[in-house]
Amino acid sequence: MKKKHYIVIGGTKGIGRVIANDLAHEGHIVSVVGRKLAPDNKKNKNITHWLTDLADTNKRIETINQILSRNGKVSHIIFCQQFRNTHDDWAGQIEISLTATKHIIDLLTDAFDYTNDRSIVVISSVIGSLVATGQPLSYHIAKAGLNQMVRYFAVHLGLKGIRVNSVSPATVLKDEAKEFYYTKNKALLDLFGQIIPLGRMGSPHDVSDAVQFLCSKQSSYITGQDIKVDGGYSLLTQESLTRRLAAGVNPTHEKK
Ligand SMILES: NC(=O)c1ccc[n+]([C@@H]2O[C@H](COP(=O)([O-])OP(=O)(O)OC[C@H]3O[C@@H](n4cnc5c(N)ncnc54)[C@H](OP(=O)(O)O)[C@@H]3O)[C@@H](O)[C@H]2O)c1
Repeated sequence: MKKKHYIVIGGTKGIGRVIANDLAHEGHIVSVVGRKLAPDNKKNKNITHWLTDLADTNKRIETINQILSRNGKVSHIIFCQQFRNTHDDWAGQIEISLTATKHIIDLLTDAFDYTNDRSIVVISSVIGSLVATGQPLSYHIAKAGLNQMVRYFAVHLGLKGIRVNSVSPATVLKDEAKEFYYTKNKALLDLFGQIIPLGRMGSPHDVSDAVQFLCSKQSSYITGQDIKVDGGYSLLTQESLTRRLAAGVNPTHEKK
């Protein structure tokens, strides 16, 4: 297998950290961008961390230049950054999710390695097309905007051989969320298991596998597409969801 250079934006925590580690274990060169190292960021010799705030336009330019001069031309960019704030900070969400993604793609368009496969993968969410009562409007708009950005760049970068796709998970059981589900909210975890057609919550590795597929030769004619990684969750009608929820309380409600 040919070693490739991946840039993982938002790869210090959560889903991005797992993707970066999976790629590094495959022997690829991985440049990770985030603001701070988590205590459990593994020391893998294939990973280089670049600590920077994506909210700062000049730092974005400086970081991308440093990455290219240290690790060379890029084969794949994976966007996993997640704006986190306690309130609905519209400007912050738009800047980190949309503006930073567009800016970094623009900065890197001419820095792809033309001897390798080339692609961009954006982690979106099922919330790009559904409404989640627990998430602010800015998150919904950012994800819907990312989905359209993927289609736009897929068309505009097609002739350069750069494929652009997205992966949309539903709620993911990240390492950081395990305590919440296993010790404090076991009933919720069990309900997810009963409602999701594949019978369990998704893991960061499920998302990572889809990302790796979209960066492989096996997806060489796929561009501008969104793959839902949700165990079939978003396929259910409102009635089926309601019946499955009710069946969590009384199993006879599942049958009609
Ligand atoms: N978790 C889920 O259940 C779920 C479900 C559907 C979709 N998603 C999507 O999956 C992606 C990853 O989610 P996650 O839950 O894994 O997120 P997360 O654990 O909060 O990680 C977010 C990453 O973004 C980085 N980041 C955030 N703000 C930044 C900034 N200003 N500058 C630089 N880096 C920044 C963080 O690094 P630092 O903290 O070090 O800055 C971290 O590496 C997101 O696009 C999210 O919308 C997640």
